[in-house]
Amino acid sequence: MLAGLLPTMLAARGLARPQPLSLARVAAANGLRFGSAMRLDALADPVVRELLIDNCATLTPELEFKWAAVAPAAGRYDFAAADRVAAFARAGSFRVRGHTLLWHRSIPAWAETAIAGDAGWTVVGDHIRAMMARYGAVVDEWDVINEPIEIGSRPDGLRSSGLLNAFGRDYIARALRDAHAAAPQARLLINEYDLEYPIPAQQARRDAMLALVRSLVGQGVPLHGVGIQAHLDLAKGPIDAVVLRTFLDAIGALGLTVSITELDVKERDYILPAAQRDRAVAAQVAQFLTAVLPHRAVTSLSCWGLSDRQSWLQVTPADQARFPGAWQDGTSPGLNRGLPFDSAGGAKPMRQTIAAALALPRT
Ligand code: G3I
Repeated sequence: MLAGLLPTMLAARGLARPQPLSLARVAAANGLRFGSAMRLDALADPVVRELLIDNCATLTPELEFKWAAVAPAAGRYDFAAADRVAAFARAGSFRVRGHTLLWHRSIPAWAETAIAGDAGWTVVGDHIRAMMARYGAVVDEWDVINEPIEIGSRPDGLRSSGLLNAFGRDYIARALRDAHAAAPQARLLINEYDLEYPIPAQQARRDAMLALVRSLVGQGVPLHGVGIQAHLDLAKGPIDAVVLRTFLDAIGALGLTVSITELDVKERDYILPAAQRDRAVAAQVAQFLTAVLPHRAVTSLSCWGLSDRQSWLQVTPADQARFPGAWQDGTSPGLNRGLPFDSAGGAKPMRQTIAAALALPRT
């Protein structure tokens, strides 16, 4: 598959087809990097692949690098899918965001059992070392820990995961130290969701994240940045730029950078005309990106997919139940419209919003 794709990719990225409007070029001209998450099946889709080639400098494996994806059984790795993503990245000169080494939702069952038993840290450390050794050449930054915060579970705001139960809150420092030892050049991040809106539940998450990273930096743990996922949701708006910039100031003051890692928008008014829905999505993205992208601490923006046809956000049966009978004529919208390109690959207002925000002066 990769050999077949290569000529197209090289032609698209070389002089044969200048791309003055490439989002990655707009970003690079302003000291930022732009990219997107991708699944292998999306890389095989010509429409999505072309969007990636035209617009992105980085790619994030949406599934293929996760622990459960590469380690189906104890002592057995299956790197086939992850290798194909890495080979695609190498062939097309994309840099990869390593997503993710430790996430409570992607620890294979056998490892959960081992961690809960008496396996000790070895099973975790071995996984970190295996991934970083294999993919270190294409990966610049790793989401070493994904989603460690859970408000309401413990006073320190940390999630009561199997890792925390087995190793205490020190599992985070331990993972970061192992990752740094395995790949001293790599940038190491903690990636988290629900940090974007000024609502109390999310303020508590920002506070918990700040307390966590402050403590890690204070202990001299190798941590280089924070990932703000940015799964926006029209039901949670509006954005408060002051709140966000206060958070970014605090992270920057610790000497850390910020990557916006998983931008997309959950919309809800599915029976409105598409143009109206697209305007609402773009307006929310504009509020968010104009608040964060100019900030010096921010180094990159990644969308969680480019075309609505690949979005993980779908119109669910529960969504449809909110509009009884709305789609009985067969014109169901079918897709959430929270990504920059529509299902045919056409640019939507969100794409223009991203381009404009990537070009804003950095402060
Ligand atoms: O491909 C199989 C398909 O063959 C099967 O029929 C179907 C049945 O459920 O499952 C399909 O796999 C699903 C896969 O997405 C592809 O659609 C998995 O079940 C499902 O668990 C997987 O979900 C992914 C999820 O992470 C868990 O890995 C989402 O695509 C992916 O977008 C999501 O990404 C997360 C980030 O890693 C962390 N931040 C939040 C973000 C969104 O939840």
